[in-house]
Amino acid sequence: MTACSDADEARVGREASPWWQSLNGNWQLKLWSSPDVVPNTAIKTTLASTTDWATVAVPGNWTMQGTGDLPHYTNVQMPWPLRPPETPAENTTGVYRRTFTVPRNWKSRRTIIHIGAAESVHGVFVNGAFVGYGTDSRLPSEYDITDYLQVGKNTLAIFVPRYSAQSYVEDQDQWWMAGLHREVFLESRANVHIAQLHAYADWDASLGVATMNVSASIGVTDQDSQSPLGRSWITRSWVETLEGKRLGKVHAAKVPYRHIQPYAFSGHVATTTFEVPKAQPWSAEIPQRYRLLCELVNSDGEVAEVVGQVIGFRRVEIKDGLVSVNGRAITIMGVNRHDHHPDKGKAVSVDDMRQDIITMKRANINAVRTSHYPNDHRFYDLCDEYGLYVIDEANIESHGFNTSLCHDPRYAATWLSRVARMVERDRNHPSIIMWSLGNESGYGEHHDACAAHIRRVDPSRLLHYEGAVFHAGWSDGGKNVTDVVCPMYAPPSALDLYVTAKLGERPLILCEYSHAMGNSNGGLADYWKVIDQHRLLQGGFVWEWKDHGLRQTLKNGQERFAYGGQFGDQPNDGNFVADGLVSPECEPHPAIQELMWVHRPLAVEQTGWKLRVTNRQSFRDSSWLRGTWELTLDGEIVESGNWSPQVEAGQSALIDPPTNLLEAKKLNGEVLLTLRWFAKKETPWCAAGYLVCWDQVVVRVATPRRLPKRSSNEDRADIDVLLGGNPRLNLWRAATDNDGFKLMPELASQMGIGGRALWDWLATGINTKPANSLVNHQCDSYVDADGAVVFDHTVVVPEALADLPRIGVVFELPAGFDELSWYGRGPLENMPDRNSGAVLGIWSGEPDELPYIVPQEFGLRTDCRWMEIIRSRDGMRLRIEALNPVGLHMSAVHHRDDDLFAAADVTELMWREALTVHIDVAHRGVGTASCGPDIDPRHSIAASTYRFAYRLRLLGASDN
Ligand code: GAL
Repeated sequence: MTACSDADEARVGREASPWWQSLNGNWQLKLWSSPDVVPNTAIKTTLASTTDWATVAVPGNWTMQGTGDLPHYTNVQMPWPLRPPETPAENTTGVYRRTFTVPRNWKSRRTIIHIGAAESVHGVFVNGAFVGYGTDSRLPSEYDITDYLQVGKNTLAIFVPRYSAQSYVEDQDQWWMAGLHREVFLESRANVHIAQLHAYADWDASLGVATMNVSASIGVTDQDSQSPLGRSWITRSWVETLEGKRLGKVHAAKVPYRHIQPYAFSGHVATTTFEVPKAQPWSAEIPQRYRLLCELVNSDGEVAEVVGQVIGFRRVEIKDGLVSVNGRAITIMGVNRHDHHPDKGKAVSVDDMRQDIITMKRANINAVRTSHYPNDHRFYDLCDEYGLYVIDEANIESHGFNTSLCHDPRYAATWLSRVARMVERDRNHPSIIMWSLGNESGYGEHHDACAAHIRRVDPSRLLHYEGAVFHAGWSDGGKNVTDVVCPMYAPPSALDLYVTAKLGERPLILCEYSHAMGNSNGGLADYWKVIDQHRLLQGGFVWEWKDHGLRQTLKNGQERFAYGGQFGDQPNDGNFVADGLVSPECEPHPAIQELMWVHRPLAVEQTGWKLRVTNRQSFRDSSWLRGTWELTLDGEIVESGNWSPQVEAGQSALIDPPTNLLEAKKLNGEVLLTLRWFAKKETPWCAAGYLVCWDQVVVRVATPRRLPKRSSNEDRADIDVLLGGNPRLNLWRAATDNDGFKLMPELASQMGIGGRALWDWLATGINTKPANSLVNHQCDSYVDADGAVVFDHTVVVPEALADLPRIGVVFELPAGFDELSWYGRGPLENMPDRNSGAVLGIWSGEPDELPYIVPQEFGLRTDCRWMEIIRSRDGMRLRIEALNPVGLHMSAVHHRDDDLFAAADVTELMWREALTVHIDVAHRGVGTASCGPDIDPRHSIAASTYRFAYRLRLLGASDN
């Protein structure tokens, strides 16, 4: 909150204020091996004499700026084997320096320095004098430096040790970085100024009334001078639209002067409450914002300064037992987000944050947990603006000392100050609906203290803390500190049981679920089936938004996104840091397709010959979407049109379908009705016409085809030459991160996390032994009347081999085949337990490239009726047709399974001109066993007999 000299400046923000000056840019930096060896001269000498200093960017992590001091990744374990509050002897310490000049017109005022955040802790020196020391690497610290300033140039030095006693409460699962990773600026404050503004904007849904409660705390920095704060100072507040149109009146409030009895004086806090006519409520769906302006007026009636605050009217409460906003229950379709940038580490810009948020909105995500620390303050501005519900989390994770530090009195003040300062900074944001007391830090008296603090200072929001329900139970554990049951990684069955067995009364929101590590997020639709069934289940936050890979160029010029250990960091937790829904560059992984679908605002299902359309939103009707429909027969469109039924928020309606389903069912073949909804108009996060959601109704199921007759012509030379023989039986897939951590085999036994399937497969030799030696396999192949080669396989999987990666065949196609077209699920990669949102249709594209940081199985399209692999040079096509069952799972990529499995990252991965083609009758789901439940049994491959048949045909450009 920066003071401005008038309302016009305040409308623009701090850049327009004469009282604000950025110190971002190039700074000097020098590193020492420990805080103890930093010489006094580093802080005291003038900059001119320091030629051996590096130039780095602030904001920035020095660990990302070529200083030689590199990032280090650990999850639960600390990076060094010590006990709190000891710090390691080797503890890189940087001194940042720069000069600045304070504008002349700041002279009679106070100058404040704002340090956005420093990892780990920081000390501030101005002109060689010590000013102060700040902790919490994810919250700003501000210092009044007026008394240290000199005329003209001033020297600023900030001393930053990489680790500190505070590191023990910052043991989050992320890279340890270092440096000044958020902005630094100066602010000028008048001797009498608005020090804090609490803007509580309430919406009473039953009356439709917006109420503004403004509480301005007036700071008086120079108490000794001649009454800087006179008797008749007032504040004047009003609310206006963002375009500057005032709503209602201006409201004055007296600034309380000194009380005759100082001990009874509660401060210079001017408070006023007023109704705001014509205001509309804020929600994540309709993020209506206004601007509150608050003037401080002196005893002469002059405006001393003005502050502006963007607000949104809304009420958060537990109503009828549910988390509600503006009187209505909401559903959290959320993600956990860390600050991350592949080149800048933790130093994310506003544009980086905006990119995250826009990409989230496009995936129908409506909520973010700021795991596991307060973000840059501008992140919340963006959430207010674009519409996201936020759980704002305190920067507390003592995971390495999980259940002890929360009882350790030496850390009590740390806990409280982290929580209290977060609430103070962020409390005006409408997007924040819950405060989180941190992550994975046991459950102790420190949490009780923090909760008590928040319940007093901000009863307008709910509390969240997973550790309480983990350690004290879901039923009534930790009610003091969490208003919601917020477990992590519980399976759908546990959620169902919570409701059906009446285990508790609090609403349940998964604070983490569906661990997105590599090819993952299996079972998303199973979660949402349960969530949609029970009101008390109010959604969850997927773990997590982004892969934390860091761009690294090897000596030979190759590039990769590095994970733990690839900087020589020991100990480390490898690629467990790469578990996002999007790449480090914010490129969505294929699972986003499924996430978008489980989050869809409109859902359709067939009920008899009608369609039930459910609007899953809480506030918005369906009129912002434009619908289309398509009736397909064996993938080809036979009829299509527009269809935009109107359904109110939270309602569901039984509606006549856009086409007669009874008639459509008479068509001979597979008949599907696909409904798609697009944004009618441009929104801040998408263009008009953006595909928001879809559903597919099976009108008539496909039936397996009879195996064609043999022809007497047995010429199959073209296929044999192309494939180099028969397709080979194959049971192996390049293990996914969920099958087992191939790079960290010890992690599963040490930490009890990670999939086990891989270790069984390796023990059985599924990756090395010929598949035919492991199972009983019969294959009949012949040429049919069309000249196609028919393959008919029978595979008997014995009990001992149950839970195989896949059952199918594999072959290679020579260089030149570069396009795919298929009738199956798509358009993106989908897996048997992650394909509910993958539409059956005719799709085309180039073979996928590996979307994951660690090479593993990718590129599958499930339930393919056929696939054509095309040589665009001459139009030659290999057509694969499933005969029985109706759909087989297929993929065609430029990597062999063994190449994928052998490689630890892309720089080790062989890319072949040839295409490796898989046709599977069964493919294991992916589940989320890297951290969470493994696949549902229905997606595992049981001991049984598997029969499958398909045919291969080579077609020229002109063949049908
Ligand atoms: C949770 C933790 C997260 C992350 C995740 C696994 O236990 O809260 O920070 O470590 O597991 O990726």
